Amino acid sequence: SDKRKINENSKDEQLEFFRVDDQGKKLTTNQGLKMAEDEFSLKAGERGPTLMEDFHFREKLTHFDHERIPERVVHARGFAAHGHFQIYESMKKYTKAKFLQNPTVKTPVFVRFSIVNGSRGTADTIRDARGFATKFYTEEGNYDLVGNNIPVFFIQDGIKFPDVVHAFKPEPDNEVPNGSTAQDTFWDFVANNQESAHMIMWIMSDRAIPRSFRMMEGFGVHTFRFVNEMGKAYFVKFHWKPALGTHSLVWDEAQKISGKDPDFHRREIWEEIERGVYPEFELGVQILDEEDEFKFEFDILDSTKLWPEEDIPVKLIGKMTLNRNVDNFFAETEQVAFHPGHVVPGIDFTNDPLLQARLFSYTDTQLIRLGGPNFHELPINRPVCPFHNNQRDGYGRQTINIGKVNYHRNSLAGNTPSTASEQEGGYVHYQEKVEGKKIRARSESFKDHFSQATLFWNSMSKPEKMHIIDAFSFELGKVKNESVKQQVVDMFANVSLELATAFAINIGAVPPKGGGSDIKKTSPALSQENTKKKPDT
Ligand code: HEM
Repeated sequence: SDKRKINENSKDEQLEFFRVDDQGKKLTTNQGLKMAEDEFSLKAGERGPTLMEDFHFREKLTHFDHERIPERVVHARGFAAHGHFQIYESMKKYTKAKFLQNPTVKTPVFVRFSIVNGSRGTADTIRDARGFATKFYTEEGNYDLVGNNIPVFFIQDGIKFPDVVHAFKPEPDNEVPNGSTAQDTFWDFVANNQESAHMIMWIMSDRAIPRSFRMMEGFGVHTFRFVNEMGKAYFVKFHWKPALGTHSLVWDEAQKISGKDPDFHRREIWEEIERGVYPEFELGVQILDEEDEFKFEFDILDSTKLWPEEDIPVKLIGKMTLNRNVDNFFAETEQVAFHPGHVVPGIDFTNDPLLQARLFSYTDTQLIRLGGPNFHELPINRPVCPFHNNQRDGYGRQTINIGKVNYHRNSLAGNTPSTASEQEGGYVHYQEKVEGKKIRARSESFKDHFSQATLFWNSMSKPEKMHIIDAFSFELGKVKNESVKQQVVDMFANVSLELATAFAINIGAVPPKGGGSDIKKTSPALSQENTKKKPDT
């Protein structure tokens, strides 16, 4: 039916249809045949070879042989949970998105937290950015807010994404180190792509070693658009604020935990949800009038910049509660497919060149990761509202679309007009005016790479500054190439002479000119093991 009314249980009820309880059941083949024997293959004679006709043996081994799918090309290791989201008050003034209108409606959500660069088997507490992806199963279709726990990003233009990821993933000759901030390629990329300065400050700070997924902020990073019923648009940045506050580990704790309990984060949040202590996050928005687009010294389309909260306060508009663990890690956590291009009416994009690249990349990777064009039919990815179109066929097709008409427009199946008007909820792209010459270039307004990085440094307390100096010294101290080290020192002299001088001294590089001589004393926490003369700890 076309019924679109949803409640907090809508997704759970849909998933119920797919749940299978194998407990206490006798084994059958995939064809439903009960088997009398499962421990011995069919042989020609007691000690003879296994026979081709052993369909049970072949089915069992074949399935096993094909059980692995590629891990995500980034964000491979994750943890996910179900919950719901509820708005505090209608956001009608800014957006027509239905799930942001009615404070009595609880929209089902599925959230996946992840580690960006580590592989699927990495330890939970490594120094890295974390993903924070939320799928809202709304009555108008799935809306995905695919964010990170850091409000800015490494690069400005998505064409560089393969480069940054190659440089940060394990070094390709021997996969040592495994996706770490302590490798030559990481720092070589940083020094040669100075737009990364701001993000690197966050990555070297305590924010990159969260205490728990429950104590982590989330950010949409890009500037998006809200569009209201009247067609008026606003720029918007999304935030998640954890009810428990934002907390980090210190590096020493993180390292010890990595060794003793590499599953620390996923275990902790799983156990809390199991005992009814439900993680909560408030959704915040920073909203900017279109007229104010050029009011700032930075470009609001530049994902290496945040919007200062003193100028544009974060308005808290609703709360998300995660109250149910998954039944099956593979079926749900692994098979979920997020995409920043999954939007609903009232939410739209901007021309941020990083966002534009993302709009291409997610479906493209999921086509191979999830095996063809029908992954939207996997239980976790299905919208809770009905969906109809004339796409058919392809690997793994589940639905049986009836009738002979598989094209639009048509009169035979009554699909003319085939689309919904805007008033009926049809998605209409915001009619932004664009003009210009086709060029490959970086806008002049994207060229300041250091001001916000410096603001970040200046906003840190003394212990936080010490942690950042320690992090630079520890991570960069492991780099083998002396030129790369020096390039990084010279680069971060643009952020803070105090910072660059302190870690230059610690790693035996040449401090930048004018950096002062007693700066090492600001970092008493830095012990001898962290200098380049000692082996890794
Ligand atoms: C995952 C591409 C930037 C957040 C992914 C995946 C790809 C990708 C290919 C794997 C998806 C999958 O296998 O299902 C890109 C590209 C980017 C970019 C091309 C830049 C041009 C960002 C940024 C953020 C982000 C800026 C944060 C705002 C995430 C998250 C996931 C992810 C959270 C994991 C989703 C999940 O839990 O399944 N990205 N990404 N990415 N990306 Fe990005």
